Amino acid sequence: MDTQTILEKQRRYLWPNHILYYTDPLPLDHGEGLLVWDTDGNRYLDFFGGILTTSVGHNHPKVVEAAQEQTARLIHSSTLYPNENHVKLAEKIAGIAPGDLETSYFHNSGSEANEAAVLLAQIYTGNREIVALRHGYSGKTQLAMSLTAQASWRMGPTFSPDIKHAHNAYCYRCPLKLTYPSCDVACAQDVEDVIRTQTSGRIAAVLLEPIQGVGGFVTPPPEYFMIVAEIARQYGGLVIIDEVQTGFGRTGGFWFGIQHWDVQPDIMTMAKGIANGFPLSNCITRREIADAMVGAGLTISTFGGNPVSTAASLATIEVMEEEAPPQRSAVLGARLRAGLDAFCERYPLIGEVRGKGLMQGIEMVNGPDREPAPQAVNQLFEEARTRGLLIGKGGLYGNVVRIAPALTVTEEQIDEALLILDASLAAVHEGMGVE
Ligand SMILES: Cc1ncc(COP(=O)(O)O)c(C=O)c1O
Repeated sequence: MDTQTILEKQRRYLWPNHILYYTDPLPLDHGEGLLVWDTDGNRYLDFFGGILTTSVGHNHPKVVEAAQEQTARLIHSSTLYPNENHVKLAEKIAGIAPGDLETSYFHNSGSEANEAAVLLAQIYTGNREIVALRHGYSGKTQLAMSLTAQASWRMGPTFSPDIKHAHNAYCYRCPLKLTYPSCDVACAQDVEDVIRTQTSGRIAAVLLEPIQGVGGFVTPPPEYFMIVAEIARQYGGLVIIDEVQTGFGRTGGFWFGIQHWDVQPDIMTMAKGIANGFPLSNCITRREIADAMVGAGLTISTFGGNPVSTAASLATIEVMEEEAPPQRSAVLGARLRAGLDAFCERYPLIGEVRGKGLMQGIEMVNGPDREPAPQAVNQLFEEARTRGLLIGKGGLYGNVVRIAPALTVTEEQIDEALLILDASLAAVHEGMGVE
């Protein structure tokens, strides 16, 4: 089908609220590794990885083979029947998850995994209230939108009254107008203020992204999560860590993002990179916490733990271990970061570069008052696309570029992306008359 026909059918048959990147939306046709081709045959370096999802590159042959083999054997079973891939994957993830997290429930999306995490925390603690962070994004179901704290991603008339939002650790735009480290990480104390002023005083959990993904790769200082976790536990709550974007080696050096902050989660959710694009998510916890679900009610998942998705996930993790372990992501991430940091000196529209490993964001601003510059991001998008590079965006103000290539990215591909970004940034500065 040609590009125009796809776009016409998109407009006619799909809900109009599907957000499409680019002024002229970009139908993708096929992919291989870090590359994708559109329906007009143009080739792009994909440095957004299908929203941080194609963790070992598009159509990695080992993932394709595992999925094809399983598809020929058994596509579906539901959680009513035990399945070899299902239990093997649960064992595998228990082996790489931090501490004593070992009991999994697989679902289909990050939103569903976060719903499961909240329910589990409520049932285990007997408390209702959850503290999440401002600028966070937790998904598109009703509860996940309640957890989310960015107005544009919250829709509908009803939000859960049990969810409260504390300040995030957004040092570049400190919500308390303080400066790190002299601030003593005062933003972390806001979690306690919120618990004491807006809840019953006993919470079920705090829910935290190690690096806020959709929020624009907001990366807290080293002490932050330790302080927040201690406060949560003091008020009866568990620590839920949402690793939907940061999991599986993305942040470099560790399998999971929160390990950079040395905090032990009680419950952890993961999706996106877990299966290189197959729909799969997981909510993992300690045995003792999972045991609280026994007798709480019945639960099945029709597609959760699907044999094909779990086969793909096992193959994805195996490829990571062999070709792209977390240590490699740290090294390649440092190369990407050095290139981006060098842009800061040359391009005044860049306010800050932040992130960890192969998860790097560029916040774009106008002038010394750091006025958010979403229009600069939009122009950079178009310029980069024209030169053959796909990137992502985010942030409460839409002014953060998100860069997150597959973990199998090579040094040459990073250098190529940096060259394209350099030329694109120069074009944006020229176009906007910024010197
Ligand atoms: C941190 C985080 N949690 C949860 C979700 C929701 O995942 P899904 O879109 O698979 O429902 C997302 C999606 O972007 C996310 O970034």
